[in-house]
Formats: sequence, structure tokens, C-alpha cells
Amino acid sequence: MIAQQLLAINKIHSRVLLSSSWFYFQILTTGEDQPANTSLSSVMAKRSATAVFIARRRAKAVTHLRNVTHRFLRLLAASPKIARRRQRQRHRSLIAVPASFRPPPPPLGTSEKPRCAIQSRTPSPTHEAETPHQKPKLPEPAHEESPADAAAGKYWAHRHSLFSLYDRGVRMDAEGWYSATPEPIAAAQAARAAPAGLVVDAFAGVGGNSIQFAARGCYVIAVEIDPCKVELARHNARIYGVEDMIEFVVGDFFRLAPSLKADLVFLSPPWGGPSYNQTPIYTLDMLKPKDGYTLFQAAQKIARDIIMFLPRNVDMVQVEELSWLCSPPLDFESEENYVRHRFKGITAYFGNAAR
Ligand SMILES: C[S@@+](CC[C@H](N)C(=O)[O-])C[C@H]1O[C@@H](n2cnc3c(N)ncnc32)[C@H](O)[C@@H]1O
Repeated sequence: MIAQQLLAINKIHSRVLLSSSWFYFQILTTGEDQPANTSLSSVMAKRSATAVFIARRRAKAVTHLRNVTHRFLRLLAASPKIARRRQRQRHRSLIAVPASFRPPPPPLGTSEKPRCAIQSRTPSPTHEAETPHQKPKLPEPAHEESPADAAAGKYWAHRHSLFSLYDRGVRMDAEGWYSATPEPIAAAQAARAAPAGLVVDAFAGVGGNSIQFAARGCYVIAVEIDPCKVELARHNARIYGVEDMIEFVVGDFFRLAPSLKADLVFLSPPWGGPSYNQTPIYTLDMLKPKDGYTLFQAAQKIARDIIMFLPRNVDMVQVEELSWLCSPPLDFESEENYVRHRFKGITAYFGNAAR
């Protein structure tokens, strides 16, 4: 806005300069180009008419300039006010959890209370965590920032690499921001599944992987212990148009595993939060909620083909050893995953998922 005003002033300045030089040129030439037979009085009359014209044009230009300058100064003075007003508008536009939202029943075999913290869809780096059935409230001052706000602020720039359809209303919670598999990686992992196959996504989170398997044409059983995340994942799957391909199950994967059968199991267990990379080598016993060996054995009961998404600093010797837990040993392949040249994680493929 300010730049536009400056531009306008510049334009007016050059117009004034141009018009005045044209008038001076006119005055000079009028003097020089008088025909020999022109009377002195007609020359004088012409000159005074020109002078009046010049004066009027100048007055007009100066008035115009004065107005512009005035508006420009007012704008300058008002800029802090404008910033405050914009901030207020942004706060007001935060989206609350829809009235229709009802938390699903507690997960099978757990007594955990739902902890729904749903992120705003507003394109703003300051998000407000809302609990269901609450009216939208203004965000707390920065020093009282919630974990959800902090997470969203840090990961906001990556929203489209997490979900390319983010702007269509994808929803996240604080954990989802740092734990969802970036979409290009999830799509590459899903490409290893046979289309129309049955996939168990053991730690579905907000749906990053389940959606991509479904988009590949697989039927997906998405297991997630947190009922609020299941709601978010279901909502996100709807946005991607694959809701019908996914069966969402709220529950503990380790309890459900013995009763499941599928063509492929996808494992994206919690890595222990964003601090996972503060150790030089990430060993499989650091995976949550159970170590990598227990997890792999649980998955083997469901299918021979297994895909695991692991931290970039994972101990690759340990990962490869997992293929020896089966007899005969499973084919194994590992892949480094990058998004815009940033090393995000390592995918381990076992069985037919390996190439
Ligand atoms: C790394 S996140 C998965 C992210 C997911 N792949 C995505 O792209 O959105 C791990 C998820 O596992 C869930 N989880 C933790 N323990 C679980 C368990 N025992 N059974 C099922 N889900 C569990 C967490 O709630 C979390 O949402």
C-alpha cells in the first residue's frame, strides 16, 4: 500500500515536471514564433491566457499532491494501527471445532481420556488449539503459547509438503504437525503396495500414510490409539476423496495385531518426539511405545510384507537384522527419504515390498 502511494507520488512528480517544462517551452516558443504581422496586444493577451492556464494546472497539481502526501502521512501514522487491526481479524477468523463434532468412544482396551486439540485451518502461523464444544477464544499471549501453537508455528511452512491439499481444510493436531509422513514420502511408500491389496496402517495418526495407500487403490485398515486423531484422519481422508477405502479402528495396535490379517503392514511408530535426532545413533529400542523387535514381530503375525518408516539416524545394522527374524530371511531394502533436499527419514522394505 505504502509502496503504491510512493509510486503514485513519483508519477505525479514526473507529470508535474513534464507539464511545467512543456509550458515553459510553450512560453519560450510563443515568444520566438510570433508571426511578423502579429500585434503586440494579441501577443500579450495570448501570454496572459497561457500564464493563467499554467497557474491553474499548477494549483490543481499541487492540491492533488498535497492530498496524496497527506494520505501517505496518515497511512504512515496508521501503520501500527493497521497491523493491530489485522492481528485482531486473524484471531477472529480462527475456526472452532464444528458443533457437530463429537469425540468417538474411548479406544478398545485403554482407559485414555480423549485429548482433542484440533488446529485451526486459518492460513496463519499462530494457531489456536480448541477443545470440542468450546466457543472460539482469542489466542493467549505469546508467552502462554500452547504446545499446539508452538508445533504449528514451527512446521507451518511445511504444511503443503505434509498435505498437498492442506488448503482444502486438512486438520492437524500438535503431534500431527511433526509426526505426519510428508506426502511425497507417503506416496513413494504406498507405491510399493499392490493396488487393491489389503494394508494395515498400524499407527495411522492424522492419516498421512493411510490416505496415500487408499489413493493407490488399496483397502486400508487404519489403526490409531488416539480417537481424536482418528477423527482428524477420517476428515482428511474425506478431503482426499478416499474415506470409503479406509476402515478406521480406534485401538492399541499391539492388542489388535493377533486378530488381523493383511497383504502388507505399514509401521510408522512414534519416534519419541522431535528430539529423536539428538542422539548420533537411534537404536530400535528407542521406538515408542514398544521396541522395534517387538513391533516387527507383532507385524509379522499380520503379513510377510512390511514397510517401516524410521528416523534418519536409525541404526541400519539393527534394521537389516529384522529381516533375519523370519525363516527364510525376508528380502530387504532401505531407502533414504528427502523432501526438498532435506533428509526426513529412512524407509525399510521387507518381503515383496523390497525391490
Ligand atoms: C508417527 S505418528 C503416525 C503418523 C502417520 N503415519 C501420519 O502420516 O499421519 C504415530 C502415531 O501412533 C499412534 N500410536 C501410539 N501408540 C499406538 C498404539 N499402541 N497403537 C496404535 N497407535 C498408536 C500415536 O497416537 C501417533 O498418532
